[in-house]
Amino acid sequence: MAKIIPAHSALEEAAAALAAGQLVAIPTETVYGLAADATNGEAVARIFEAKGRPRFNPLIAHVDRFPLAERIAIFDPLSRRLAEHFWPGPLTLVLPLAEGSPVHPLVTAGLDTVAVRMPRGIAQSLIARLGRPLAAPSANSSGKVSGTTAQAVEADLGARIGLIVDAGRTPVGLESTILKVEDGRPVLLRPGGVTVEEIEAFLGMPVERFSGTGIQAPGMLSSHYAPAAAVRLDAREVREGEALLAFGPTRVAGAARAVAMLNLSEAGDLREAAANLFSHIQALDREGARAIAVEPVPRHGLGEAINDRLARAAAPRNDPPGSD
Ligand code: TXA
Ligand code: MG
Repeated sequence: MAKIIPAHSALEEAAAALAAGQLVAIPTETVYGLAADATNGEAVARIFEAKGRPRFNPLIAHVDRFPLAERIAIFDPLSRRLAEHFWPGPLTLVLPLAEGSPVHPLVTAGLDTVAVRMPRGIAQSLIARLGRPLAAPSANSSGKVSGTTAQAVEADLGARIGLIVDAGRTPVGLESTILKVEDGRPVLLRPGGVTVEEIEAFLGMPVERFSGTGIQAPGMLSSHYAPAAAVRLDAREVREGEALLAFGPTRVAGAARAVAMLNLSEAGDLREAAANLFSHIQALDREGARAIAVEPVPRHGLGEAINDRLARAAAPRNDPPGSD
């Protein structure tokens, strides 16, 4: 059972819980979101734990005001016009990640783009109160429909989260529209709360639909994840010219031979490992190693998503479209 507090008296307690790295389910105008401080990797790792997502999909960074969005992402002129017109509201923009962005790499799943939106209402006030962006996927466990009432969220996730902010049924009732501007042309990645017709009428130009239907599957992004170095999984020894991505107390042979070494979690903590995963792979890749040898990571809990991501880094491939 999660504690359910009415929105009008929730700000202080919810902001304090988020600042402490806890998860809070919050109402947005679209659906309830399972929110965490987007600058805190371990807090973001808790989202994947609670949702039971078998993989790390990139999450939306929610902001309360435009200057915060500009610290997170780089706006082209068209995206800026869209944000000025439709924000706050159910439109998410996928943009290049800004240099020095405060958003943790686990939010973007290590991509060089980031999804940003400014929600309306209590969510916006909460972000203002916290003073940090919030990462928030829809508040449902993996494979279930998005929660649009506090009761639905409680029934699905209540056992796994501490706090739910209740503002009744969400007014829009389906997720935000996701749009990405490519070479000056707007491309729809997911239909949602703002219609394509509204966007076309405002811009005075057609919106392209991402080939086929619906969402840009995370797997379609998998080539972006691939490091320059080869990745060798479940390594028991380090070979010449390899960097080492360790996990737990290192037992791998020849560790001293490694060109560079980073440990996902010396204590063997999967939440810490999830928080370190993308930044460590990127850092080792910058060392110019021939290959990255990865020590075995257990497959339970968050280990499933960690191993999924490592497998993609080792052998990039495209997934069939899916959503969650
Ligand atoms: O209305 C909404 O958008 C709700 C509320 C809580 O804000 N959130 C939501 O989040 O629907 P989620 O995680 O269920 O869906 C976000 C989608 C994911 O399918 C993800 O693949 C996509 O956004 N996404 C996030 N970052 C992306 C990126 N850099 N490039 C492409 N797609 C991205
Ligand atoms: Mg969802």
